[in-house]
Order: sequence, then structure tokens, then C-alpha cells
Amino acid sequence: MSQGAEPRGVTVRVPGKINLELVVGPLREDGYHELATVFHTVGIYDYVTAIESDRWSVQVSGATAEGVPGNSTNLAIRAAKALARRYGVEGAVALGIEKNIPVAGGMAGGSADAAAALVACDALWDLQLTRDELEPIAAGLGSDVPFLLHGGTAIGSGRGERLAPVLARGELHWVLWVSNKPGLSTPQVYAECDRLRAAAGVQVADPVPSGDLVAALRTMDTDAVGAALHNDLQEAACSLYPVLDDVLEAGLELGAQGAIVSGSGPTVAFLVGTQAAAIDLSVGLAARGPDGDIRRATGPVAGAQVVQSIVPPGPGFTG
Ligand code: C5P
Repeated sequence: MSQGAEPRGVTVRVPGKINLELVVGPLREDGYHELATVFHTVGIYDYVTAIESDRWSVQVSGATAEGVPGNSTNLAIRAAKALARRYGVEGAVALGIEKNIPVAGGMAGGSADAAAALVACDALWDLQLTRDELEPIAAGLGSDVPFLLHGGTAIGSGRGERLAPVLARGELHWVLWVSNKPGLSTPQVYAECDRLRAAAGVQVADPVPSGDLVAALRTMDTDAVGAALHNDLQEAACSLYPVLDDVLEAGLELGAQGAIVSGSGPTVAFLVGTQAAAIDLSVGLAARGPDGDIRRATGPVAGAQVVQSIVPPGPGFTG
């Protein structure tokens, strides 16, 4: 680290995601499920700052910081260390994470912070890696991390780490119901899905995306997108968190054009046609309950992006 000078630092903004479609296939030998999913970023953001330091550390603040580890188990610090190891970077970073994405909510908040840490450290260390070059490290950290490097709307396959962009013009308006109680554990929700399927004698086929959703996203027809929302983990999330059935019903009765549990839950996403309708629905949901935090967001938005950089320009800088 340079002596006396202002410490070098980079801040990255990263959104949360919802899954517009999540088709869960068979359990693989590695403990993951084969998926066909449509990821979609929404404009609720965490901010991750990486500052040059002599030792590794992480500090977590913000509206949803409670319960997020401020130690070496945090996925963002693991991401920074993995990048340093892979590219032979000596030295360390102090990470600051400002959290607004719900924690253990099915919106990939921890994965988002890991993606942001990769992008921040890449800039801080002047590695100049492309998102595609960051992807293998991202995939090693978690199934959703590669998507948060890119953002937008994309089909995920494999365990979710293999991505193909989806053409989606315009924006969608979402109202999110966020539980104010402890969230759901992703492995537990997948295990509950397997249990329910086994109990019902369901033969699990290889996952295939429906096609209806991708077609609806091309035109951003809200009714068609709303009708095509689907999540195979929803029944399992509702089984472990029964209030979700009431939340889904309340939003639909109040006029939402679509409703879905986000990923492994318990966040619920409601689709509406306009910003005015989003305000109406959030007011209605807040008044009617079930009790929870109500957030509004539009999507899709970009993935992890540098928003502030206090790093002297490199030798190639001319302007
Ligand atoms: O990849 P990530 O660490 O985010 O996954 C968390 C857990 O979710 C896994 O340990 C696994 O139990 C479950 N999972 C799964 N199939 C996937 C993705 C996640 O079973 N495709």
C-alpha cells in the first residue's frame, strides 16, 4: 500500500435478482439440481467498496445488514481472495458492504456482493478482466454469482451458472413483499422440493424452459409475462413458510398481473403494469398484510458496475 497517499478504493453497485421462471430438474451427484431458469435483475442495490489494505477484512452496514457475517466466511471476501489467488495479487483489501438487498430472501444478495467484490478488486488491482474472464471464479463461489456480473435478463442452465442473454425490451414494474422475520435456507428449500416430489411419486424430468416467458419478454406484455411466471420451488417455500400463500393471494386480489416467490424465497414478487399501479399495490399490501416490508423496483437493470473509483489512472490513460 502507498504511504501517506489517500487509500485507493473502488465502489461497485450491484442489484438483487428474481427468477421469472425456475424449473428444477433432478438432484445431481454433486448435490446440486439441474436447472432451467430465467434470471432478472431488479433495482434494489448493495454497494461494495474495496480499499487497499495490509490485511483482509469486511464490514457490513445498511438497512438489511443484520445476520450478514462480518468475517472471513462472507462470500464477498472469499471472492476477493479467490481473485487474488488466481491472478497472483499480493496484498489485501478492506471490504465495506452497504446492504439493501433482503438477506436469505431468494434475491441472491450474498451472490451479488461476491460479484461486486470481483468487479471492485479487478478495477482496484488493474487486472482489466472481462466479465467472461471473471465468470469461472464467480461460478466457483455460487450458482447465481455469474449472472450478477452481467445482470439484465438471462436464461441460466446447469446449476444456474451457464448463461444466455434474453432479449427483453423496456422495463417491468415490481412490488416486492420482503419478510421481516428470518429468511429461508436455500439448501433446505431444495430439499423440501425433493421431499414433496418423492412423497407425490413425481418422476423428475430434465428441466426445460417453457418458451412462453421468453416470447412474452420480447414484447414486455405485462399480462403475458405475469401469466408465464413459474417457480418449481414455490410449493416447497410455501410449505416451509405458510404465510407466503396468504401473501400471494393478497397481491393477486389487489390487482397484481402476476405473482411469484423469488428463487428459494421467502421474498414474493408481484408484477404490475405501471409505476402508478406499483404505488397502489404497495399501499394496499401494506394496509392489508401479511406483515412484511414492501419495496418497489423496476427491472431489468445492469449487473455489478463501478460507481466510484479513487485509483490513479494507469499508464495507458490519456484523457
Ligand atoms: O450455489 P449456491 O452456493 O448458491 O447454492 C446453495 C445451495 O442451494 C446448494 O448447496 C444446494 O443445496 C442448492 N442448490 C441446488 N441446485 C442448484 C443451486 C443451488 O440444489 N442448481
